[in-house]
Amino acid sequence: MYNAEQHHLLNELLDKYQKQKPVMDPGNFREFCTRLGANFNVINTLFHELYGHRKDHKEQLKQLIDKLYNAFQQRHADLKEQDRDRQKDPQWLLSQKWVGMMLYLEHFSKDLKGFEEKLDYLQELGVNWVHLMPLLEAPVKESDGGYAVSNYRKVDPKFGTMADIRKIAKEFRKRDMLLTLDIVLNHTSNEHEWAQKAIKGQKKFQDYYYMFEDRQIPDQFENYMPEVFPVNNPGNFTFVEPLKKWVMTVFHQYQWDLNYRNPQVFGEMTDNLLFLANQGVDILRLDAPAFLWKEMGTSCQNLPKAHTLLKLQKRCTEVVAPGVKFIAEAIVAPLEIIKYFGNDSNDHECEIAYHAPLMALIWEALATGETALLNKVIKNLPQKPFGTTWINYARCHDDIGLGFDDSFIYELGRDAKLHRTYILDYYTGKFAGSPAKGAPFMFNPKSGDARISGTLASLAGLETAINTKDKKIEKTAIDKVILVHSIIMSFGGLPLIYSGDEIGLLNDYSYQKDSAKAYDNRWMHRPLMDWKAAKKREKKGSIEQRLFTALKKLIAIRKDSPEWSDFNNNDLRYCENKHVMVYLRLDDRGRNTLAMVNFHGSEQFVKKDILFRHGFDMTGGVVDKYSGKAPSYNDELVVFKPYQFFWIIDKVHHHAQV
Ligand code: GLC
Repeated sequence: MYNAEQHHLLNELLDKYQKQKPVMDPGNFREFCTRLGANFNVINTLFHELYGHRKDHKEQLKQLIDKLYNAFQQRHADLKEQDRDRQKDPQWLLSQKWVGMMLYLEHFSKDLKGFEEKLDYLQELGVNWVHLMPLLEAPVKESDGGYAVSNYRKVDPKFGTMADIRKIAKEFRKRDMLLTLDIVLNHTSNEHEWAQKAIKGQKKFQDYYYMFEDRQIPDQFENYMPEVFPVNNPGNFTFVEPLKKWVMTVFHQYQWDLNYRNPQVFGEMTDNLLFLANQGVDILRLDAPAFLWKEMGTSCQNLPKAHTLLKLQKRCTEVVAPGVKFIAEAIVAPLEIIKYFGNDSNDHECEIAYHAPLMALIWEALATGETALLNKVIKNLPQKPFGTTWINYARCHDDIGLGFDDSFIYELGRDAKLHRTYILDYYTGKFAGSPAKGAPFMFNPKSGDARISGTLASLAGLETAINTKDKKIEKTAIDKVILVHSIIMSFGGLPLIYSGDEIGLLNDYSYQKDSAKAYDNRWMHRPLMDWKAAKKREKKGSIEQRLFTALKKLIAIRKDSPEWSDFNNNDLRYCENKHVMVYLRLDDRGRNTLAMVNFHGSEQFVKKDILFRHGFDMTGGVVDKYSGKAPSYNDELVVFKPYQFFWIIDKVHHHAQV
């Protein structure tokens, strides 16, 4: 509906900018006006929802728009051109051509200069999207791997400078690669300038955080707030001695939660976000967005206003840098995760989210050898809005949480508690029949709940195989690592490999000797990149070579399979064999792939009829894209080796394509 007051405000702002020095050239100014005009109604409405009750809300809104104008002015012409190209091709992100890797600089190449030298290695594998884990200035000792940021505008000197980031971003554009950096929105480190000023008694900055004189309000909050790190950081508040106040610290004591009820905080953090976008980042990973809004009497997670805030931040970004996409790092219940995509394609929020349910359920299926729960949970996920996409991953730098609903386990006729205990035991060394070498993370003795730490290879059994020199376990572990990657490549979404998994790096126990890390066993699955081992990828028959070449092949096939772009065209299919997962990737030109994955450690059979049922007429025969051969048949049955997968396509069609 037409809103005269809003129109007036928009005109007032644009008049001001038109006169402001330095003057923007007419082409750029027109672009800014169009973008702001197109988003202004939504920005105004969302801002009102969050801050409309404040007397100064109009003034605050004007200040926010000023920030957008300045950020737009500072955006480099190359990036603006890229924004326009991406607007012309809005589905660029959904393409099957993207394959990602996430890494800690410190563990991969030491610093940014070293990283540039490793670009060829990444490209050899086929990686063209990199998430560089936190690299901004952070406390020297404990910083949660950089997730406690002290300065959003400065690269940690041990890694390099902002100019290095810009250089890498430029090189990425040249090589058609994508760069992701984190923006840690929920908290700053206690060494951030704002926290320091708050400690010195400046009221303005004390209002940037949640702080209280005594335990009265914190205690009320605690009644409803779960704990993220109950073992090493119990509670959600920390008494800060020099302040003599209780500060909200949901994660670690040195990570102070920002108070987004204060519009200044929103403005400053949006400015920081746009600053990073302007360095040439393609995709920003919004760290812990579920926690952004706090409300007494609630869990303070996934609250509606956290979504309002993200939608507002998205619209601000669309004015300044519409080519920049958001990842929601919301590792929460499946039905909550999906909300971070926005309600529909017009309700812009985050374009990308981690498929945490798929990740956790792959591990569940590998432990049980069965696919029922995996199928059930995935089938029950609502369709995400068109234009959004998942990150599909085998594991990341964080723990594996079994974040699916108990009710699904009960519906399958199982006891949820026993089922969860079995999976935990399977991966953490308590179940004698398991080769996995993981460790429980944040074990809660009251509930028996825990999450899981461990590298992909160690959880798959490779560490046990090497320790016991057991070739059979070694082969199985390698097959499992490949199986998991086959799913993340073909399932629909952006595959994200954890650095080192491509050569099967094992758990790294050295963190136990470092007092700043010893309390956090997630460090065991963040090993140092072993470049000597990587060299062995050239040695035929080595573990590294078997894994690296397999992953390289999976990636190459993905890039060559347009039907794997994420147009919401993944269809989970019924299979009479409970150990086999089946999904169809559909294509409007009939280039369908039928993926079939055997999660069991023994040979399995599926009636050949499954191929007819999915439209493969068999006259010209079918072929498995991975092996390049037809699957093995035993009379009327398709035969699967242990942990084997097939990517079935029509042979005739396949030839027609080539
Ligand atoms: C995210 C990060 C995790 C970190 C937390 C707090 O969940 O992935 O590593 O501990 O945020 O910033």
